[in-house]
Amino acid sequence: MHDGPHRRGGGHGHHHHDHSPDMAQRHKRDQAVFHELLRRHDAIRREVENTDTGIRALTESDDPELAGLIRGHVHEMHRRLVEGFSLRHWDPAFAEIFAQKDKVRMTVTETDKGVVIEETSHDPNVVKLIQAHGVVVSNFVKSGGKAAGQPGALPDDYVRVAS
Ligand code: HEM
Repeated sequence: MHDGPHRRGGGHGHHHHDHSPDMAQRHKRDQAVFHELLRRHDAIRREVENTDTGIRALTESDDPELAGLIRGHVHEMHRRLVEGFSLRHWDPAFAEIFAQKDKVRMTVTETDKGVVIEETSHDPNVVKLIQAHGVVVSNFVKSGGKAAGQPGALPDDYVRVAS
């Protein structure tokens, strides 16, 4: 699988991985959606409950278009998590959730106005990460682009695995 040093002879080196044009397209679409969510964060509401194994979070909007964008975002991000198609590499909260993806279970249920997600883990360390990540998303909803410009906080006792 691994055929020699990164960037050797390709000339198409990305700074992280080599993504196909398809994935570049997907990333562009995903970006357009989360920028719109951040821009309209005031019209979104969110409630997060910590459980023994993770979180349960309800994220909704009374605006049907925005509710649709939330649902679409969550399905696409869930898919990226499963695939390991990571983003926001500079933010430890995101780098870690992708590095721990095999220990994260996420279920998505659509509601009239958005989604309920449950995100859980059997690993107590990953439970801490999931709960911290829930707070990061809540901060996006609370403060929009201002929150998205800074890295999310992880608890001191969380043991990191991302390189
Ligand atoms: C106001 C803006 C945003 C809203 C309302 C929002 C909403 C959500 C929701 C509801 C989830 C499911 C997990 C949960 O509920 O905790 C989620 C997951 C995710 N979001 Fe967002 N998001 C926003 C901004 C962003 C931004 C700016 C990014 C990336 C740059 C992003 C990337 C992700 C990723 C990668 C996941 C899946 C990973 C995980 O849940 O652990 N989101 N988002």
